Amino acid sequence: MKIAIIGHGKMGKAVAALAQERGHVVQTIVNRIENSAARALTPERLAGVDVAVEFTRPDAVVANLERLIALGIPVVTGTTGWSDDLPKVTALVEGRGGALLHAPNFSVGVQLFFRAARELARGFRGRPEFTVSIREQHHKTKLDAPSGTALLLQRQLWTEEPGRRFPITSVREGESAGSHTLTYESRHEVVTLSHTSQSREVFAAGALAAAEWLPGRTGVFTFEDMLFGQSA
Ligand SMILES: NC(=O)c1ccc[n+]([C@@H]2O[C@H](COP(=O)([O-])OP(=O)(O)OC[C@H]3O[C@@H](n4cnc5c(N)ncnc54)[C@H](OP(=O)(O)O)[C@@H]3O)[C@@H](O)[C@H]2O)c1
Repeated sequence: MKIAIIGHGKMGKAVAALAQERGHVVQTIVNRIENSAARALTPERLAGVDVAVEFTRPDAVVANLERLIALGIPVVTGTTGWSDDLPKVTALVEGRGGALLHAPNFSVGVQLFFRAARELARGFRGRPEFTVSIREQHHKTKLDAPSGTALLLQRQLWTEEPGRRFPITSVREGESAGSHTLTYESRHEVVTLSHTSQSREVFAAGALAAAEWLPGRTGVFTFEDMLFGQSA
């Protein structure tokens, strides 16, 4: 497969390295300096590319997605902090018959953590003696807070208990690739469900698996759709 890497930071580098290890061709790598308002994403630059993998920043991602979708290139993005623009981008994908897979977290463990969290929330529904909280911690260079994963967890918990508050505490320190903890606590007991990413290679592997899966499909998908099907 011929892959375009949009954004050559920590994640873009990890995906490019893994793609080459797996025998894919990294046809082009697009950096911030050349790509203001997505201007480096030209038909010439992207000719023959099967899929683009986008890991940039919240202020750059939407322009990149719009340009890639307009060019008919399937795109996988892991950039976080742009969920308000998802309806606009979805309309564009649907209007163009394009393909987009987006996920704030490309780890299989986190997807299973979400499922276990929904199960816990079902069990604790209507039990006000328990307070509930979400805590997330990431490396100090992460720009957005709360993390996209914590916000998605919160949305998933609301599907189980819509009226409840699920407050998020964000910590930015050290080099941690990311941890998320859901806690239910009463005077007498504490239940915690926790996921910790030990390295960002796990996200690179998930994003690359998504890039291998997406070409040939049309529509907007999440990583959960890919792993468990769209009725998940
Ligand atoms: N979905 C997941 O599993 C997952 C996992 C980890 C991270 N993330 C998210 O992915 C995003 C990137 O994370 P990261 O750790 O790779 O951050 P990073 O190391 O800061 O890399 C971001 C890169 O994007 C570049 N960039 C900025 N604007 C650009 C543009 N218009 N065109 C091309 N490149 C551009 C930056 O260039 P400069 O350095 O020159 O500014 C930087 O090299 C963040 O939103 C993060 O939250 C998601």
